[in-house]
Amino acid sequence: MGNNLLLEQIKIRNTVMRNRIVMAPMEARLNMPDGGVSKEMIEYYKARAHGGAGAVIIENTYIDEFSSRSGIISSGFYSDHMIAGKSLLADAIREEGALAIMQLSHGGPQANPAANNSPVLYPSLYTAPSAGKEYQVLTEAQIGEIEDSFAQASRRACWAGFNGVEFHAAHGYLLSSFLSPLRNQREDQYGGSVENRARILIEVLKKARKNVDCDFILGVRMNISDGLEGGMTEELAAETAKLIAPYVDYINLSAGFSETCGKVMITPCYVDAPTLASQIRNVYQEIKDLVPVFGVGALDYKSGEECLEQDCFDAAVFGRAFIADPDWPNKLSSGEAADIRPCCRGNEGCFSRMLKGLPVRCELNPAAGQEEKYQLKKAKKKKRIIVVGGGTAGMECARIGALQGHEMVLFESSGRLGGHLNEAGVPAFKAGLRRFMEWQIRQMKKLNVNVRLNRRVSAEEIQNMQFDHVIVAVGSNYIVPPIKGVERAIKPDCYDTEQMKDKYVAVIGGGMVGAETALHLSGEKVKGVAVLEMRDAIAPEHDPVARQILADKLEQNGVKVLLGCRASAIEEERILYLDENGETKEVRAEAVILATGLRADSEQVSAFRKLPNAVCVGDCIKAGKVYHATHEAWKAMLNL
Ligand SMILES: Cc1cc2nc3c(=O)[nH]c(=O)nc-3n(C[C@H](O)[C@H](O)[C@H](O)COP(=O)(O)O)c2cc1C
Ligand code: SF4
Repeated sequence: MGNNLLLEQIKIRNTVMRNRIVMAPMEARLNMPDGGVSKEMIEYYKARAHGGAGAVIIENTYIDEFSSRSGIISSGFYSDHMIAGKSLLADAIREEGALAIMQLSHGGPQANPAANNSPVLYPSLYTAPSAGKEYQVLTEAQIGEIEDSFAQASRRACWAGFNGVEFHAAHGYLLSSFLSPLRNQREDQYGGSVENRARILIEVLKKARKNVDCDFILGVRMNISDGLEGGMTEELAAETAKLIAPYVDYINLSAGFSETCGKVMITPCYVDAPTLASQIRNVYQEIKDLVPVFGVGALDYKSGEECLEQDCFDAAVFGRAFIADPDWPNKLSSGEAADIRPCCRGNEGCFSRMLKGLPVRCELNPAAGQEEKYQLKKAKKKKRIIVVGGGTAGMECARIGALQGHEMVLFESSGRLGGHLNEAGVPAFKAGLRRFMEWQIRQMKKLNVNVRLNRRVSAEEIQNMQFDHVIVAVGSNYIVPPIKGVERAIKPDCYDTEQMKDKYVAVIGGGMVGAETALHLSGEKVKGVAVLEMRDAIAPEHDPVARQILADKLEQNGVKVLLGCRASAIEEERILYLDENGETKEVRAEAVILATGLRADSEQVSAFRKLPNAVCVGDCIKAGKVYHATHEAWKAMLNL
């Protein structure tokens, strides 16, 4: 693979894009409460442009103050007083050599009623459970007003110095709902046929064109599938694209409504990647001679290149890959692809936080969304820093310290780095996390961290060494609950998939580790898998979207999920448990895996804590997710 196609230029309208790498629009929620830009927002987007993106598409930005806002803290461009602020954003991106494109949106059915002065607006009556009670069907006069608002926002974007705008006609927003035969059952000129359903979008494009300079780019993001029966299909998408092609400068193909978001749009790691390439290709083949086409779907630099080779689209759109590593296009073009920090599609920092109304962060790249605050500078004084423990937090501290110019020595008691990511990364669907661990290990070498494997050090030994600081990252151990016969069970870091084959396997503990272990084993040649969980939901620590997908996959793979039950004894070929009514039941289990959580190694920690200038990080304070390990590592190193 030559990695050449991604780096080739492409002309969009009259402007040359320096490569075929596009940053997807993604709500970062770094804007001001009124929708205006903030310093953090500018720094965040600027970093992605600086990192080599060909185009940076700013997140969906609402166009009026009445009905269009989709989130409680969305980016907006509804008034001329915002032109000045937005121009700083456009300048920051363009000065770095990327095209600055703003996605303009009307939330329509996905607008947030609490953030607007109007009920939610639909193209037509809609009875699906996702439709709220308080909604209104748009009149033709209202449609005209919304089109005008799109045109005015386009003018503002042009005046602010953006290269173009992208009309959000995907993901169930207003324009997308008009395109969808599922949501649009109007019987007037805006519904009934593909032409009529596309009318509002074409009118928006025509009105916008009249309000902007002749070089200004007008793009459209639209679905190839809504992911729902009766919704947009590839055939309809191709027909729609042909209709709008004369008025647009590119079409950005995506998929999904909010209710199918996890399955087809912002997919967690349980959904195979790339997610949309072959469907997008089908549509692309129909329209490729008419207009440049962009495509998306859990792409990384390898699959993006393959998609271009396989003629799936003209330019590749990357979402989370840009959150995880803003510099990846530059790393690719300078032959340092091995240095690209992968995205693990765990969604912990981005989508899960977005659902809670929080600003963007990244579980693997703590600087995301706080670029200025987390800028790494060379330390004024070089120090000798000892790190005890080579798991995620320990390696991240060592990496940051080395980048700050310190001498880093890392002691790891076992023969390998990576800590619990070694077992967490076993399932094929956790390849992203495994790649992150491998990336961290490569960074140790690249940055000359002095790694000592198989070296268990005590606090007394360290006391006699020379050091300025000690980072204590000794991690956590699996909890062994007091269940009769527990010695028969295997901990997640000790099992071998091969040994599970042809057996009935039970996993005690249905948190993320247990549920993922069960899903992994159900794809191997085991006779059956059961998960026993005390709580009433599988993986309750997951965001609801990922949890549902995980639960669906477990069901599809025939995993027996036993909720509200407590294991009481592990016997030779079975587990006895108390069900939610307190009755004793049994489940067949020829092998048992214990996934009952992790606990900090407090004894070790308290000895190290007494050392001068000792800082504890990661699981050894409180066992948590990768997100906490990496973020705490940064905080610790920046505060030294
Ligand atoms: C946190 C987050 C926010 C998003 N916000 C938007 C948005 O504002 N507009 C949009 O069209 N898509 C949005 N998306 C979808 C992305 O543009 C992209 O289609 C999706 O993440 C799949 O690409 P990826 O797998 O490369 O991340 C968002 C995705 C994420 C993760
Ligand atoms: S938080 Fe996770 S899913 Fe989101 S960008 Fe970072 S690594 Fe990817």
